[in-house]
Amino acid sequence: MANRLPRTVGGLARSGQRWFIDAGLTYGHGTTNARDEAIYLTLHALGLPLDVLPARQTVSAARAARVISLFKQRIARQVPAAYLTQEAWLGPYRFYIDERALVPRSYIAELLLQFPAFPWPESSSVGRALDLCTGSGCLAILLAKFFRHAHIDAADISGDALDVAGINLRRHRLARRITLVQTDYFHDLNKRRYDLIVSNPPYVRADRMRALPQEYRREPVLALAGGRDGLDAVRIILSQAAAHLNPGGLLVVECGHARERVERAWPRLPFLWPDTSGGDDCVFVLSREDLLRVGETGAKRGPRGARTGATDLKPR
Ligand SMILES: C[S@@+](CC[C@H](N)C(=O)[O-])C[C@H]1O[C@@H](n2cnc3c(N)ncnc32)[C@H](O)[C@@H]1O
Repeated sequence: MANRLPRTVGGLARSGQRWFIDAGLTYGHGTTNARDEAIYLTLHALGLPLDVLPARQTVSAARAARVISLFKQRIARQVPAAYLTQEAWLGPYRFYIDERALVPRSYIAELLLQFPAFPWPESSSVGRALDLCTGSGCLAILLAKFFRHAHIDAADISGDALDVAGINLRRHRLARRITLVQTDYFHDLNKRRYDLIVSNPPYVRADRMRALPQEYRREPVLALAGGRDGLDAVRIILSQAAAHLNPGGLLVVECGHARERVERAWPRLPFLWPDTSGGDDCVFVLSREDLLRVGETGAKRGPRGARTGATDLKPR
């Protein structure tokens, strides 16, 4: 790294970009490349708004040193920027985050931010909703913002993740409308029924888990590991969701780029796949009636009992 510190906002960001490229960092936790990551860390460290880059603005030596220190931590620890800054953004919404929970980034969040476009039901038709595998609580909070009459259950098996979710509920002043539930999938939800269930469960398959870049290894294994074929959670959700949906209720599940494999494993289920920035193979939608009409939610077995197809790392 250079001995003389750059003294403009743009100069700092350009230095960060160069150093990040030289260090071979991996992105995907809020930004997708070295330039955006360096700009984000620069603006954050300087306490500047994130939507403009005042490239020529000069900064004091002390403030420049603060930026460089953040760059150095990013490189030395190979930790996602969001864990260093303890914040993650979904659209205009800011969430607290630390290493106890997955850094928020979900195609379901992207779809919620386009509310009321497909696949979402009328806001007034949702009285109770569930965010299964809530992690930081980000999707439960977006549900509460768009389904203004709904009470939301935010469920996760991890007490650590639920502690992070609790911080976010308080910051968004939604603790009265969202109930945190510690449960192994639906197990402790007993007979509760919902008009809408969303879930971004763990879905990275075992071979990909073994090859995860260091940044992704900083996240809880429980949040990523989806079993041998990445579909362990999908199997549980498809077999149990109907019992927890009200008539007309909707299930929305993120599964990585697994459309081909999911459709091959459940050939009789009429999945709908809304478009996302990752393509039309990442999130599926089913109604309770779809699940019941087909009456078969068990997966078809592939060769030697394996399910086939491909999932990806968690997006962005
Ligand atoms: C991919 S993260 C999703 C977090 C959050 N919904 C988001 O979109 O950022 C998956 C979450 O599922 C939780 N999880 C893993 N196994 C679970 C289980 N058996 N029952 C409930 N939650 C589980 C993990 O603790 C983790 O918080």
